[in-house]
Amino acid sequence: MSVPKANQLHIGASYYPEHWPESRWAEDIRLMREAGMTVMRMAEFAWSTLEPSEGEFCFNWLDRAIDALATEGIASVLGTPTAGPPAWLVEKYPDLLAVGEDGRRVQFGNRCHYCVNSPDLHAATQRIVSALAERFGPNPHIIGWQIDNEYNRVCTCERCQKLFQQYLNDKFGTLDQLNDAWTTPYWSQTYSAWEQIPIPIGPHNPGLMLEFKRFITDSYCRFQKLQIDCLRSHVSPDVWITHNFMGWYEGYDHYVMAGDLDMASWDWYVGTGHHDYLKSGATHDLTRGFKRRNFWLIETQPGAVNWTQLNNMLNKGEARVMAWHAVAHGADAVMYWQWRSALGGQEQYHGTLIDQSGQPRPFFEEVKHLASDFEKVSSLLAGSEPQSQVAMLNSYDSRWSVNWQRHHGDFDYVANFVHYYQPLAACNIGVDIISADAPLTGYKLVVAPALVLIDETQADLLTRFVERGGHLVLTQRCGMKDTYNRLLPLRQPGLLADIAGVEVEDYYALVDPIPVQGNWFSGESRVWAERLKILDAVHTSAIARYGSANGWLDSQIAVAVHAYGKGLVYYVGAYLNEEAQQALMDRIVKTAVVRPILETPQGVEAQRRVTPDGLHVWLVMNHERSEQTIALPWLAHEHLTDQDGISNVDLGPYDVAVLTRVQ
Ligand code: GLA
Ligand code: ZN
Repeated sequence: MSVPKANQLHIGASYYPEHWPESRWAEDIRLMREAGMTVMRMAEFAWSTLEPSEGEFCFNWLDRAIDALATEGIASVLGTPTAGPPAWLVEKYPDLLAVGEDGRRVQFGNRCHYCVNSPDLHAATQRIVSALAERFGPNPHIIGWQIDNEYNRVCTCERCQKLFQQYLNDKFGTLDQLNDAWTTPYWSQTYSAWEQIPIPIGPHNPGLMLEFKRFITDSYCRFQKLQIDCLRSHVSPDVWITHNFMGWYEGYDHYVMAGDLDMASWDWYVGTGHHDYLKSGATHDLTRGFKRRNFWLIETQPGAVNWTQLNNMLNKGEARVMAWHAVAHGADAVMYWQWRSALGGQEQYHGTLIDQSGQPRPFFEEVKHLASDFEKVSSLLAGSEPQSQVAMLNSYDSRWSVNWQRHHGDFDYVANFVHYYQPLAACNIGVDIISADAPLTGYKLVVAPALVLIDETQADLLTRFVERGGHLVLTQRCGMKDTYNRLLPLRQPGLLADIAGVEVEDYYALVDPIPVQGNWFSGESRVWAERLKILDAVHTSAIARYGSANGWLDSQIAVAVHAYGKGLVYYVGAYLNEEAQQALMDRIVKTAVVRPILETPQGVEAQRRVTPDGLHVWLVMNHERSEQTIALPWLAHEHLTDQDGISNVDLGPYDVAVLTRVQ
C-alpha cells in the first residue's frame, strides 16, 4: 500500500513506538487502521533511543516502525529529537544546559533544557539530524519533518550574554548609536563598552528588552536553520519541513521563524473548560498567516490534557467540531497528542486514543467517525484554502512593547486583538491574520489593533492601501513608537497622522468604564480611552464621543473616520464593550462592502475554502450542544451525508456540514 501524500486531509496522532515492546506495534497499527488514521508523527523526543551513546546510532527500530505503518497505508512525519538532549550528552557538556533567569542551570530530566546557542548542542544536533536525514531522507513513506518541539527556553548564560552583545555590536555598529537609540543617559544607563550590556531580567530598558527578543528570535532561527540545512541535503523538495508552534506564544517573532520553514503547524490545547470558536479561530488564522498558506494542526487534545489545575474532558462531539473548525480555517491535518498513554514519564494522565491497558478509549470512536468524514471530503478539499477580504495586522514588536508597559494591567495585546477579531468571526467574516510587514493587495478592510511600533515601510504600505481605496481601522495605542521601542517625538498616530486625519491629545487608563455615545451605537469604554483631535476638518467626522467621565474626556471624540485618497481610515480611541464593538465593526464591515460567508444562527460558524479550480466549499459548524437549522440562500449538496439539492441544513450538537452549491 502506498502512503497518502500531500493534498489530502490527514488525520493522525503522535506515536512513540520506542515506549513499547516491538511485539505490541502490530496491534497498535491495526487499531490505527481501524480508526482510519492516515499519518503518525514519531521520534521528536527519541534522541536517547536513536543515539544511546555519542555517535552510536540505533535507527533500525524506526525504520521498522515506518515500514510497518506504511504497509497499512499510514504515512510518517518525523520529528528531529533535539528537544530531548540525552543524559550522556548533558553529562559530557554540562554547560549545554540553559541557565534560567534566577542564574541557576536548568536541571536535566524535563525537555528543551538546552542553551539554544551552545556550540556543543549545535555539533550534537548536526550529527544526529544529518544521520537521520541521510537514513530517512530518501524514505518515500515520510511526508514531512518537524524540527525540535515547541521552542520555548530562554537562556541567560554568559555565552548567550556575549552573543547578545555581539548581536548588538553588529546591529548598531557603535555604542553611540546604541546609547542614542535606548536613551541611556536616563538613569545613567550609558554604555562605554559592549561587555557592560546585560541580558534583561524582569523590567528593563524598553529598547534593550526589544533587542533581546530579537536576539532570541535570531538564536532559534540559527538553531532551526542548522537543522533545515542538514535535512535538505537528503530530503526531497516535495517533503515539507515545519515546526510545531504554540499559537499566541510570545517568545519570539514567529514571522521570522516561519521564514525558513515550508509550512507552519501548531499545537492546540483547550486545557480547562471548553473551546470558544470566536477566539480559537483567531489562533488558526494567526498560524495560517505565518506562511500565508494552509497549515497543520499537528497536535491537539484527545479529550483532556494533564497539565492544568482541572483537566476536564471535552464534551462528546466537541473535538469533532473543533477538528472541522481547524480545517475550515486552513488546517490540512488534525493530529492528536498522543496515541497511547505512556506507562511512565511526566504525562501519564494526558488524554489519548488508547489507554494504559492498550484498549481504545471511548474517545477513539469519535476520532474514527471524524476520520471517515475526512475521507469523504479529502479530495474535494484538496489544495483548497480560505480566502479573505479582511486582514488583521499582527506585530510581535508591538505586542511585546504593549505587554511590557500595559499602563493598565488589563490592556493585553492579544485580548485587544481578539476584541477586534471576535465581532468579525461572530458574523462569519473570513479574516487573514498577517504580519504588519505583509503586502495588503486584495484586501478591502485592514484592522491594525494596537500597532504601537511602526516604521516607515509599514506606514507606507498602509498609506498606499488606503489611497487605492482600502478601509483601515487604527486603534488605541497606534503609532506611538519607533522600531527601537522609543517614543516618537510626535503625537499618536505618528507616521499615520496624515491618513488618520486625527491625533491623540492624550491617553487615559480608566478605573471604571465611561460612557461612549456613537452615531449608531452607545456603550462604554473600559480600561483605556484616547482623546482625539481632528486635524483635517474637511474630511474627518467624529463617529463617537465620550460622555461625562473624568473631565478630560467629557464630550471629547472617541472614534473618528477620515476620507483619504479613495479609502477610509477609522481611528478607534475607546476600548468598547462587546455589544458596542460589534455594532461598530458591523458598520465598518458593511461600509467596506465585505459580506458574511453565510448567515447563521448564533453559535453556528460558517467558513469557506476555495479550491484551485475556484470551487467554493462551505464548512458549517454547530459549536453548540443544541440542534440548529440553517436556511441556505441557495441549493446545496452536503458531502458528509451525500444529500443533494437541500435548502436547509439541520445540525445536531457539534455537528458539521460540508456544502457546495448546486445552482
Ligand atoms: C505539548 C507537546 C507535547 C505534549 C503536549 C501535551 O504540546 O508538544 O509533546 O507534551 O503538549 O499537552
Ligand atoms: Zn545560553
